[in-house]
Amino acid sequence: MTLPPDLDPQKIPQHIAMIMDGNGRWATSRGLPRIAGHRQGAKTLKQLLRCCKDWGIKALTAYAFSTENWQRPIEEVDFLMHLFERLLRRELAQMHQEGVRISFIGDLSALPPSLQTEIEHSMTETVNNQAIHFTIAVNYGSRSEITRACRQVAELVAQGQISAGEVNENIVEQHLYTADTPAPDLLIRTSGEMRLSNFLLWQMAYTEMYFTEIFWPDFDTEALHQALLSYQKRDRRFGQVKTLLSA
Ligand code: FPP
Repeated sequence: MTLPPDLDPQKIPQHIAMIMDGNGRWATSRGLPRIAGHRQGAKTLKQLLRCCKDWGIKALTAYAFSTENWQRPIEEVDFLMHLFERLLRRELAQMHQEGVRISFIGDLSALPPSLQTEIEHSMTETVNNQAIHFTIAVNYGSRSEITRACRQVAELVAQGQISAGEVNENIVEQHLYTADTPAPDLLIRTSGEMRLSNFLLWQMAYTEMYFTEIFWPDFDTEALHQALLSYQKRDRRFGQVKTLLSA
């Protein structure tokens, strides 16, 4: 899939984060059960991953399941866990062949053991792939991630490996799940909600945000194209003034 000609290849975001919202409403609006929306949402994600790779985007991070999502009806939680596992089993070989590096972030220890096994396997198998870095956030919450990092840094201080005065942003960052991954340039959230919902709060300090009314299952490559057009019109200053940045 080639880059649409009205997009500037020099200004393609390196890393896109996605909050895939509206699966349930997409299904309900068609008289289908909510899980049908998740199934269709997974197809959308697969198509977008390939599109991102083709358009030169180097990283895609998708919010698949938050720490709060356990409060959904048990049948829906079960369905999602099975869906993740089934997709990994079914799609891993092809993703690997296409050069996708797969990572998972979040507290994976609470997931069903058979899913944990597939996750481990997918991460080790694809660790050296370079085409695109695909990160899936499962049982992820940003506050809990930052708290965990604080705990780890506090242990370093307690062990005398660093002093409290030496704790800096870099050290905290190194203890996040996303250590060594550049921050997202663009966040896309579908379905009209305009919140971060505890997703990558530290990492998105300077991320451009794009919100659309489209429900996630309908977010196709044309919708991504529109998001990128909007992104390319933005003036990213990272808190500086323009002259300083370009100097
Ligand atoms: C939010 O829509 C969506 C989810 C909580 C699940 C997202 C999961 C997928 C798209 C499957 C992707 C698969 C992999 C392997 C990552 P919602 O249910 O909150 O929708 P609603 O707001 O309309 O109820």
